[in-house]
Amino acid sequence: MISEMQARHYIAPEIFEREQQRLFGKLWIFAGVRTLLDQPNAFLTRTIAGIPLVIQNMTGTLKAFDNQCAHRQMPLQFEEYGQRRLACRYHGWTYDGNGCAKSIPDEQVLYRFDAEQRASLCLREFAVEVIGNLVFVNVDENPIPIDQQFTEEFRTQLAGISSHFSSQAIHTRVPASYNWKLNFENVLDWNHVAHVHPRSFQPLLGAAATEPVPHAPDVANTALSSLSFSSSTQMNIRAWPWHAMTDAYGAENTYHNFFIYPNVNFISIGGVIFTIQQFDPFAADRTELRLTLMSAREKQRIAAMPAILWSHLKSEKRVIDEDKVLLEMLQTRLHAGGRAAYHGAYETRLRRVADVYLRLMGEKA
Ligand code: FES
Ligand SMILES: [Fe+2]
Repeated sequence: MISEMQARHYIAPEIFEREQQRLFGKLWIFAGVRTLLDQPNAFLTRTIAGIPLVIQNMTGTLKAFDNQCAHRQMPLQFEEYGQRRLACRYHGWTYDGNGCAKSIPDEQVLYRFDAEQRASLCLREFAVEVIGNLVFVNVDENPIPIDQQFTEEFRTQLAGISSHFSSQAIHTRVPASYNWKLNFENVLDWNHVAHVHPRSFQPLLGAAATEPVPHAPDVANTALSSLSFSSSTQMNIRAWPWHAMTDAYGAENTYHNFFIYPNVNFISIGGVIFTIQQFDPFAADRTELRLTLMSAREKQRIAAMPAILWSHLKSEKRVIDEDKVLLEMLQTRLHAGGRAAYHGAYETRLRRVADVYLRLMGEKA
């Protein structure tokens, strides 16, 4: 079956711009992990749909604002993660919990704003939804209800698994030269694992399915919320003594996979290690993989935890690099006159993603 996606969807700068508006500017986008924002004034910075954001704990409430001072647009927070009050380094303005200028040094002498001007000195605020320990932001002025994007069942599952997160995490970003959609398609495509990861990932999964995949029904009017779902499979996980020292999620020897449309793959190995992979779009042919790794909550302090997380990140990175080499090669050969992809029965998920994508993009009724 010929894919509805065409090469231009992966290479054209105008498509990228349209996606920024129609997907990333309209949908709920994963922004970070709440356990890292528990302290007063803890913050993280992100860019979503081209908008630089700061998501900050303002006296117990998570708020998302423009990360640009209302005065002369200096970023209010510079670092990716940190803990600092919401204040500008340029001329010292500070902001309150509503994102409005609280104090302005030498205000009466230097600025002389009238009452109306003074009241308008507020940052743009964006909608935040927290599901368990996962923080989502929607930069649209009228955000869609979150249940349109994630079913209640899925939100309950996400809340359940993420409630096991420890507050220690490691975070890194991996630049990649391919379109973000190739990465989301790749994680939906389990058939590549045996071919691309024969020594790294496949051995953990054991034998691949031999049952024929059922023939795909016609894909039409796919619900947006059906694109975010979870699956789990048996996995041979080596038991380490530290596993018993954590409050693990779910059954042992299980690999959990949560696909969060449009651009997150959240996995857990045995409910003891959690990895959030996000495919952050930078340009039509550039993606930044954002990786956040955590263990399950510790029942007692595990001194080796940083080393444990680091070694997991290393094995994770090996698998990611195996994908990256291929996806970057694939991207280099995409060209406007090229043929569309050809899908078999097992690729129904990809066709459903394409169906929703083309409607969000306004290319399909
Ligand atoms: S730019 Fe922020 S205080 Fe001037
Ligand atoms: Fe892979």
